[in-house]
Amino acid sequence: MNITILAIESSCDDTSAAVIQNGVVLSNSIANQSVHEEYGGVVPELASRSHQQNIVPVIEKALKQAGVTKQEISAVAFTRGPGLLGSLLVGTSFAKGFALAHGCKLIEVNHLHAHVLASFIQTPQEKVPEPTFPFLCLLVSGGHTQIIVAQSFTNMEIIGTTIDDAAGEAFDKCAKVLGLPYPGGPHIDRHAQLGNPKAFSFNKPHISGLDYSFSGLKTSVLYFLRDALRTNPQFIEHHIDDICATLQKTIVDILLDKLHKAVQQTGIKQIVIGGGVAANSGLRNAIADYGVQHTCATYIPELRYTTDNAAMIAVTAYHKYLAQDFATQDISPRARYSLQEYFGR
Ligand code: KG4
Ligand code: ZN
Repeated sequence: MNITILAIESSCDDTSAAVIQNGVVLSNSIANQSVHEEYGGVVPELASRSHQQNIVPVIEKALKQAGVTKQEISAVAFTRGPGLLGSLLVGTSFAKGFALAHGCKLIEVNHLHAHVLASFIQTPQEKVPEPTFPFLCLLVSGGHTQIIVAQSFTNMEIIGTTIDDAAGEAFDKCAKVLGLPYPGGPHIDRHAQLGNPKAFSFNKPHISGLDYSFSGLKTSVLYFLRDALRTNPQFIEHHIDDICATLQKTIVDILLDKLHKAVQQTGIKQIVIGGGVAANSGLRNAIADYGVQHTCATYIPELRYTTDNAAMIAVTAYHKYLAQDFATQDISPRARYSLQEYFGR
């Protein structure tokens, strides 16, 4: 019998649905919310309202693209957290209602677990090489920056984390200072590709162990710009490509420095990246180069599977289905939901 799962992601400002059958992702439909652009950040109330408007058409589209009927669904999976509570509530409620109406299983997925497993997404069009266990995952998103040791699909441990801002936040906050639109990460990436990464210099943090810190970088950029703008009020316009290239190189260097330490400490030579910042061209190139230099196997998910998407929820749910790990109707979403708690540590 086929294992067919409908997966829903609604943790922040993207409504997404995917269908996975016997481990192969058949469809992945996403509705992005442009409503937040004019506010310079995600407005939680507007996000949950847009999810409510988008969720039915997004799910219909995913089912249609997959050529699967609602009656064929063995389980419905949803992102339980972490994320915006109002946004999570829409996906969670829909999934619970769907499971009740169609008499299928219910599977809760932690959003971070799904980012880690994005490298396992297989489609009918292309079979990608999969990481083998144990592997190290550099998880870099808008809300999280962690180094994770994955022993298996369902056993993972965080060995490094940010003590303040996430890498995505560093990109977005610095972009805001530079007058770039939200979210700033992709804009910095675009400018960086045209600039010189050695043009300027920003301070790097000195944090011991495998933890990260990014809050100082924004301050360093702020002071640098304050001084530069005094002598040239058009400094940003004239040097935007070089500023972005330097900034991106600094963030990537910080990320790689701790990842290298983790490789040395654990002896693990399988490296996976995941999360929205894994879309960054500088990071993708740096990880690939690192793999060549240090004879590590590197796994870089396709661009569309780095930022929030339901395909990664689907692949995670498939492995939870195989482990017979199901949720019940009394489940509720969690705005804060650490991997430790999720894995029952
Ligand atoms: O994983 P994600 O879609 O949402 C969260 O779970 O947070 O990550 C969003 C983050 C944002 O901070 C965004 O600026 C960043 O990923 N991002 C990028 C790029 N694309 C998205 N950062 C740098 N370069 C990119 N190309
Ligand atoms: Zn995410």
